[in-house]
Amino acid sequence: MSEKFLEIKDLAVTYETDEENVNAVNSISFSLNKGETLGIVGETGAGKTTTALSIMQLLPKEVGKIKNGSIIFNDENLLEKNSHYLRQIRGEKISMIFQDPMTSLNPVLTVGEQIGEALELHNKAKKENINQRVGEIMELVGIPAARKSEYPHQFSGGMKQRVVIAIALACEPELIIADEPTTALDVTIQAQVLDLMDELKNTLNTSMIMITHDLGIVAQTCDKVAIMYAGEIIESGTLEDIFSEGNHHPYTVGLFNSIPKLNDKKTRLEPIDGLMPDPTNLPKGCKFHPRCLHCMKKCKMEEPKVYKKGTKTIRCHLYDN
Ligand SMILES: Nc1ncnc2c1ncn2[C@@H]1O[C@H](COP(=O)(O)OP(=O)(O)O)[C@@H](O)[C@H]1O
Ligand SMILES: [Mg+2]
Repeated sequence: MSEKFLEIKDLAVTYETDEENVNAVNSISFSLNKGETLGIVGETGAGKTTTALSIMQLLPKEVGKIKNGSIIFNDENLLEKNSHYLRQIRGEKISMIFQDPMTSLNPVLTVGEQIGEALELHNKAKKENINQRVGEIMELVGIPAARKSEYPHQFSGGMKQRVVIAIALACEPELIIADEPTTALDVTIQAQVLDLMDELKNTLNTSMIMITHDLGIVAQTCDKVAIMYAGEIIESGTLEDIFSEGNHHPYTVGLFNSIPKLNDKKTRLEPIDGLMPDPTNLPKGCKFHPRCLHCMKKCKMEEPKVYKKGTKTIRCHLYDN
């Protein structure tokens, strides 16, 4: 049955450089149950990757600072753990898939060696069984086992991302964090890789955080959704909550209006006017108010609270009653 195994509370992250402080994540909270997929959606710069790197504790050293909050994974606060413990968690319990497969693959090792290395590192197979297990994992992600002695450059973009997924799966993680895993791929390949991830998640009961700016991908893969804007979650809920009509944050409405609708050829797309605020200088009140079509006086002064409605949360003064 469902069991909460990741809970993030009031997480705040700042990048501190000599010149400025970038408030990339501003007090976000969310949780994930076993086997669930949570979509984190938002424009570039919303703080999605920072959130993912915080969970993995792979923020850039010296610069990326977790200012507040807790990250409870299997009843333990990862923010209180030492680097040895965290190295074990990474790869063994939590794997991350990045946007560009080439940043995750080693160009001078064959794909078989790289998958084997992951198995060995986490003691997931006996030495004499590694070769066989590598072949099985490759077949699982749709790569012929016979290609294990090839190098990354011999694979197409989609196939490379499959190799990355194979490495991520090698340690049988409980959680996969996929940061725009298909953004660098062609649309048809994108669909294949997403289908594959969905299938694997279901057979292995892996939980997943799917980071994307694409609502279509959310609809296809997620159970729950959190919409991020300027480092905050401005709306969250089940897939149905987010995709059903009515009662949404004005930013969510704007996001949906800015994507093409299949049956609606006449309407022109309406991108949201304006830009996301500068994270070194966030506006007072609601961070969306300078772009909001429903902005009230209060929105410029007071930060909205998070209002709960059933399974849904909205951070907007319109829902204050
Ligand atoms: N190493 C860094 N130093 C300073 N600012 C950074 C760094 N990495 C990201 N940022 C800033 O933090 C904000 C959030 O970035 P990010 O988490 O990458 O957003 P997203 O993944 O949603 O596009 C952006 O304004 C970005 O420019
Ligand atoms: Mg990102």
